Amino acid sequence: PRIAILISGTGTNMAEINKRVKSHDLSCEISFVASDNPVALGLQYAQSEGLETVLLPYGTEGRDKAEKVLHDLCCSRDVEWIVLAGFMKILSPRFVRKWERKIVNIHPALLPSFPGTNGARDAWDYGVRVTGVTVHLVDSGVDTGIILSQKAVTIEKEDTLDYLVKKIHEVEYDLYWQTLKKLFQGAYSFQGRRAIDDSN
Ligand code: GRF
Repeated sequence: PRIAILISGTGTNMAEINKRVKSHDLSCEISFVASDNPVALGLQYAQSEGLETVLLPYGTEGRDKAEKVLHDLCCSRDVEWIVLAGFMKILSPRFVRKWERKIVNIHPALLPSFPGTNGARDAWDYGVRVTGVTVHLVDSGVDTGIILSQKAVTIEKEDTLDYLVKKIHEVEYDLYWQTLKKLFQGAYSFQGRRAIDDSN
């Protein structure tokens, strides 16, 4: 399938997905990488990899226009999946409805614990011993969509917040492409809110 990847920052998850596409571990085509943030570091990486990059005009024209640009581009490119990788804008319910079960996100905590923009830090501050990573479909809530996969990360007493963030990133890099691979292969079926991985 064709996919679009949305980023706001460094884009290391996007880079990992690109690496797995290039090595044929993950079978899909990255149609373009889009960002709301003109200075997102990940855009430079994407360009250096020969990927098309798109600046969504959130800052200049607002959300409605930015989402229209994204929707139209995805339609004209036959994009089937929208993959969020550190994209910091909330997509409107209207947009999400149009792309129902076609938008995927990765979150640096075990949802439904610690949703929102600081999942890793919130878990750290709360003092939990186990946190982790969640890959989920995007619905109109914030980090409330159907869970596709999760992996736990334990917080050891010698860890610092920085080290925890690093451990979470390492887990993300594997979990994201592996989950996308199953999703693109149609390995998930759905029973209510439960995604069943039929390949297991
Ligand atoms: C990741 O931790 C992801 O879980 C969260 O944003 C972060 C993005 O990091 N949604 P990067 O830009 O992929 O390095």
